[in-house]
Amino acid sequence: MAQAYDDMDAIALLKADHRLIEDLFEQFEKASGKAEQKRLAEKLVLELKVHTVLEEEILYPACRGEIDDHKLDEGYVEHDATKVLMNDIEAGGPDEHFYATKVHVLSEMMEHHFEEEEAAKKGIFSLARHAGLDMKDLADQMRLRRETAMAEFKAHPGRPSETRTFVGDNVDSALVDEPFEEPPVRGGVEAR
Ligand SMILES: [Fe+2]
Ligand SMILES: [Fe+2]
Repeated sequence: MAQAYDDMDAIALLKADHRLIEDLFEQFEKASGKAEQKRLAEKLVLELKVHTVLEEEILYPACRGEIDDHKLDEGYVEHDATKVLMNDIEAGGPDEHFYATKVHVLSEMMEHHFEEEEAAKKGIFSLARHAGLDMKDLADQMRLRRETAMAEFKAHPGRPSETRTFVGDNVDSALVDEPFEEPPVRGGVEAR
């Protein structure tokens, strides 16, 4: 029988989040219709934002000084890369040409990130456990923060997640800033 959420330690809880988010990505890939795509994308982005808060506010700071700094730094930068895509998905919608592709690319990024966090012996989770962190206490903090973070995000839907490590994600002065235009439909009235 699956372990109850209230009994999980910090690592079990974060891994359960990973499985939930993977399941939502799978459901998105199979979704029929734009309304269903939008519902699932919003749900998975919300879960992912909350999960990221738990790691960046609770697990990662507890690991600082206890495990290899490079591992944590890599985690933060990978989170920031996914935040840019999450913010964009939230700002867009299924009528947009790249919408489903953005969700797919986000799923690939998360697959890589989850694998790294969960890697045996050298992943953040394994290193944290071996460092002797109090996983029960961290889990209690995470359960409380999950409630408040979920409430905050629900109260402000679409509020972008802030990156912590990026300095170049303001692209107002980019050289190429023309939005993508839909190509003309082949075989239609006007093909070129
Ligand atoms: Fe993470
Ligand atoms: Fe994670």
